[in-house]
Amino acid sequence: MRRRTFLTGLGATGVFGLLGCRSNPVSDYVPDLQALQVYSSQHQNLTKAWAEAFTAKTGIKVQVRQGQDSSMGHQIVAEGASSPADLFLTENSPAMTLVERAGLLAEVDAGTRKQVPADLAPSSNVWISIAARSTVLVYNTANLPTRQLPKSLMDLSDPAWKDRWACAAGGADFQSIVAGMLAYQGEDKTSAWLGGLKSNARILQNNIATMKSVNAGEIPCGVIFHYYWYRDQAGTKEGSANTALHYFRNRDPGAFVSLSGGGVLAGAKKPAEAQQFLAYVTSAEGQRVIVDSGSMEYAVAAGLASDPALPPLGTLKAPPVDPFTLDSGRVTTLMTDAGIL
Ligand SMILES: [Fe+2]
Repeated sequence: MRRRTFLTGLGATGVFGLLGCRSNPVSDYVPDLQALQVYSSQHQNLTKAWAEAFTAKTGIKVQVRQGQDSSMGHQIVAEGASSPADLFLTENSPAMTLVERAGLLAEVDAGTRKQVPADLAPSSNVWISIAARSTVLVYNTANLPTRQLPKSLMDLSDPAWKDRWACAAGGADFQSIVAGMLAYQGEDKTSAWLGGLKSNARILQNNIATMKSVNAGEIPCGVIFHYYWYRDQAGTKEGSANTALHYFRNRDPGAFVSLSGGGVLAGAKKPAEAQQFLAYVTSAEGQRVIVDSGSMEYAVAAGLASDPALPPLGTLKAPPVDPFTLDSGRVTTLMTDAGIL
C-alpha cells in the first residue's frame, strides 16, 4: 500500500528510545496520528486487504494495530476516551460488545447500516457486521460414519462422546460459540454442557490444529469455524483431505453464526474517515475483498454472494441470537468455573 505508514516497521527499539517506557501491554505500537487508527482482531490478511484497498481508493492513510479479540477489546476499554483508536474491527462480536457496554462506540452512519441486512446486525446501532462465520463439526470420514454424527452440538456433552471430539476452547472463535449457546440456551444448560466438554473434549491450540488432528485420525471430530476447512480444501488439502463438514442446521446451538464487527470509537480523532472506512468495508466493493482475498468467510452486504464453494448463509438455519446479547465476560467465568480456562 503506497501511502500507509507502519512505524512499527522502523523497529520497536528505535522508536522506543524516543518515547521512553510505556505501560501499554502491546508496547511496540506507536500510533501515527496522521493515519486512520484501526485496531483490529480480525484475521491479519483480510484486515490488510481491506486497509490497502481503502487507501488505494481514497488516499487516506491507515495504520492497523493487530491483536486478539479479547485482549484488544480490553485494551480499548482500558485506554477509554484517550484511546488513539478511530475504529475497531473484531473477529467475533463479543469483543465489540465489550467496548459497546463501556459506552465507547459512536452510532454507525445510517447509510452504512442499510448496506447490511437486519438479520446480520445487532439490535444496537453502534456497530455493524463486516463478515460472518459458521460453526461446523469437522469429522474424519473413515472414523465417524455419517449415521453416528451428533444431531445437536449439545449431544457432545454426553458420556458417549468421551475422548471423541476436540476444540480450541481457549480461542475467541470457540468462545463466541459458547456465548451464542449462553444467549440461546441459558446458563444452566450451558454450564452443564461445559462440564461435558471438560470431561469429553481434547482441547487444542487453535482451529487449524483441531482440523489437522481430526484429519490425522487422532480424534473423530472437532468443533471449528467453517473457513479453516474451505481454505485448506481450496489449497493443498493436506489438513483436511480425510475429513468432511457436518452442519447442525435446525436452529441448533451448533449452527451458530458469529459476526465480525466494525465500530467507530466515540472518541475517534478522525470520525469522518472512520465512518468512511466502515461504509467502504460493508459496501459491495469492500465485501468483494472477502471473496477475492480467499478468506472464505461470508460476505454480509445485501445481495452480494459469498465464495461459491460455501453453502449460502440462508441455508445454515442458524439460531436466532441477537449479537448484542453476547456476553464474553460471563462466558469466561463459566468456562473458568468448569475448569476449562
Ligand atoms: Fe478464526
